[in-house]
Amino acid sequence: MKTETLRRKLVSAATTIGGILWLRSSRRRRRRDARLHRSFTEVLLHVLSAGDAATERHSRRVAELTGVLAAEAGLGQKKRRTLRIASLLHDMGKVDEEFYDIVHGRAALDREERARIEHHPYRTAHLLAPLEWAHPGLTRIVASHHERWDGRGYPQGLHGEEIPEAARMIALADAFDAMTQRRVYRDGGAVGEAIREICTGAGEQFDPTLVDLLRSPGVRRKWIAVARKGRVEEMEAEAQAAESG
Ligand SMILES: [Fe+2]
Repeated sequence: MKTETLRRKLVSAATTIGGILWLRSSRRRRRRDARLHRSFTEVLLHVLSAGDAATERHSRRVAELTGVLAAEAGLGQKKRRTLRIASLLHDMGKVDEEFYDIVHGRAALDREERARIEHHPYRTAHLLAPLEWAHPGLTRIVASHHERWDGRGYPQGLHGEEIPEAARMIALADAFDAMTQRRVYRDGGAVGEAIREICTGAGEQFDPTLVDLLRSPGVRRKWIAVARKGRVEEMEAEAQAAESG
């Protein structure tokens, strides 16, 4: 009897220890996978930066801005991870040779160039397709980041909730960054002006529910901080470019 009790205790202890070891190794594996994923995203951003450093800086800011929106909207961890990857890489398609002269040109785009650049969301989706298994929905999100709530966006002219929520968030952050950084040399109220313009575009260009999130003082404060930091980065990049002739 004593031997049987001892055997049971040993089996139970072995099962517990085995379970702990399995949990530890699977946790370690998950951490390693997550780290590998982050490193891989960084590699892609370096590739993007080599071709177009301004787009890389812009993409990092967009990821910060959408991260603030996602936290305020209470998005789950999995959706937030996909949103972050999509935000960081949404313009990856612009590295394609097809867009080189447009991305690096200084003159305003003509009709043909505008039509051509409107293909870059598809190009991004194509480049990121191998990641779809790890982030279901990623290709649809990046393919839709220039769609508008009222259906007048591109490339497909999707309407309202036909557009994935993450793509609607990227569209909002993308527009805010473009507005605030385009006015890099204008002082004062440009950030406030950008938020006002976005509020005006609620229900037309932008998802009104997401625009509502900007009414939260916490969200506003964080977005303004990203815009300010971005201005410093852009001025530094400008100064560096001037120095290297
Ligand atoms: Fe884009």
